[in-house]
Amino acid sequence: MAGKLMHAVQYSSYGGGAAGLKHAEVPVPAPKKDEVLIKVEAASINPFDWKIQKGVLRVARVPGKFPFIPAGDVAGEVVEVGSAVKNFKPGDKVVSMVDPRSGGGLAEFCVAKGNLTVPRPSEVSPAEAAGLPVAALTAHYALTQSAGVKLDGSGPQKNILVTAASGGVGHYAVQLAKLGNTHVTATCGARNMEFVKSLGADEVLDYKTPDGAALRSPSGKKYDAVVHGTTGIPWSTFEPNLSENGKVIDLTPGVSTMMTFALKKLTFSKKQMVPLLYSANSETRGNLDYLVNLVKEGKLKTVVDSKHPLSKAEDAWAKSIDGHATGKIIVEP
Ligand SMILES: NC(=O)c1ccc[n+]([C@@H]2O[C@H](COP(=O)([O-])OP(=O)(O)OC[C@H]3O[C@@H](n4cnc5c(N)ncnc54)[C@H](OP(=O)(O)O)[C@@H]3O)[C@@H](O)[C@H]2O)c1
Repeated sequence: MAGKLMHAVQYSSYGGGAAGLKHAEVPVPAPKKDEVLIKVEAASINPFDWKIQKGVLRVARVPGKFPFIPAGDVAGEVVEVGSAVKNFKPGDKVVSMVDPRSGGGLAEFCVAKGNLTVPRPSEVSPAEAAGLPVAALTAHYALTQSAGVKLDGSGPQKNILVTAASGGVGHYAVQLAKLGNTHVTATCGARNMEFVKSLGADEVLDYKTPDGAALRSPSGKKYDAVVHGTTGIPWSTFEPNLSENGKVIDLTPGVSTMMTFALKKLTFSKKQMVPLLYSANSETRGNLDYLVNLVKEGKLKTVVDSKHPLSKAEDAWAKSIDGHATGKIIVEP
């Protein structure tokens, strides 16, 4: 593919939102020796993608260079493999977690690490697969590592609260939690209550009602863990709803989360705040493979909020920034 051009969507500076995305013809990237080149069939947008554009990682010099092609969740077909990649060949259908900081998904072709790429069975569509990496891996990590839920149901019964259960992470978290031995309470907007119940939630709270805002379980459950996918809820609201050793796993940790985290540690509190920023690790590949296979087996579904052609990727971007997606926002070349 050396020397060939492809269509890509990129931005050239921090800020600018959807209007900052520009369409361009750029060279098809060449895979390094540990990478595969993928012909993109679907990519998904995560809030992290537009937060990087806003400059949340500016101090860490992310993105490393402009112009930058965003999006890290990619499903497609392998067209080239680096010399050190032994488990894939051209023609293989795959799904990859590309580090969203290196990005590349909003394009016709994208490179991904071979060790963060897994096969996509034909039963799983490109859109269903592309929804998984960041959102489902984060939900999986929060439940299994932070909350200690065993997804085969072999652990003790736990009460789990999922906030923003209608969103990308939340809709996977509800379904995965129900594979474990859990009772799930979930929060979402009124329009999504039936949807979240259909994912398996045992109790659903409308976040705009007083009980919803107070996170009060209708059956009086105290939560062993909260997979917290929204913002603006103070510790004082969580605290009375937690069980003796309850944890709030905050997926959007800001200053107050970090202060609460430190305070709870220093005071040996049994109730804890757990800031979580998911990043790829040695178990990512195996876990992504596990999640793809759950979708294949019909035990987990990707709910697609909307699909947008690459030519209108800015609509997908704006939809994510708006913050009202139900499930995953997908872009298809
Ligand atoms: N730490 C990590 O590694 C990590 C990984 C992935 C995501 N995240 C973060 O986790 C958060 C969620 O991500 P996401 O992809 O799930 O976002 P998302 O898909 O954009 O979430 C949108 C959903 O959140 C719902 N929502 C908004 N405010 C709510 C509230 N106060 N209570 C209940 N539901 C509410 C919306 O419902 P309505 O439309 O009804 O308002 C909508 O359905 C984001 O801040 C993201 O950056 C962190």
